[in-house]
Amino acid sequence: MIPVHVAIIMDGNGRWARQKSLPRIFGHKQGVETIKKIIKAASNLGIKVLTLYAFSTENWKRPVKEIEALFSLLNIFIREESKELDDLGVCLRILGDLSKFPCNIKTEVEYICKITSKNTGLQLNIALNYGARQELVHAFGKMLECGIENPTEEIVSSFLYTAGQSDPDLLIRTSGEFRISNFLLWQIAYSEIYVTDKLWPDFTKRDLEDAILEFQKRERRFGGLIESNID
Ligand code: FPP
Repeated sequence: MIPVHVAIIMDGNGRWARQKSLPRIFGHKQGVETIKKIIKAASNLGIKVLTLYAFSTENWKRPVKEIEALFSLLNIFIREESKELDDLGVCLRILGDLSKFPCNIKTEVEYICKITSKNTGLQLNIALNYGARQELVHAFGKMLECGIENPTEEIVSSFLYTAGQSDPDLLIRTSGEFRISNFLLWQIAYSEIYVTDKLWPDFTKRDLEDAILEFQKRERRFGGLIESNID
């Protein structure tokens, strides 16, 4: 079975650049090329939801120059890819707090989300200024505003940025690090985790397929037992 929702922690852009004695920004640039390929691949493979971790609430600690370069790449990506994403039937959603983003980028991002909102193809989530703890605090605040006193798991889920989407079946992290890095803490409760040594700029459609093949071999029990183990 193809996983319905695949989430990816795209890591290793800086190391990719360092290996080539290039400035870090070249790694991010190449990382954007990988993003474009993986969106198409995911759409062709029949994945319904793809979530990409592009900028975390902790990434503000990076040098201003690198942050500006990341914003600029995002700006170019939105400008150049909007039409193609729309033609592919992609429905774009942003996970995270856009209020700290430069006004022009915020407006453009919100515009493309709006025009693609009715599309029925791949649901593409880009996590920007995203942190799972911040997401939960935001959700609890909204629940209080709505006067919810007895929240259920379903109610909490419906206040997250991923409201209405199924939880990730498969979480991929590139560059060999075994960390979750404050990503989708609530949603990945039962996700299968796949870590590859490939650095994000080198990640290909074939690598995505390998991750899916590995996922297909896993036995998901969601805390229960498999039939043959029941006496
Ligand atoms: C990790 O590399 C990757 C990121 C900071 C996020 C990914 C961002 C992009 C691919 C570019 C911009 C995104 C969009 C949506 C246009 P790292 O710098 O942490 O690598 P390192 O761990 O090797 O230093």
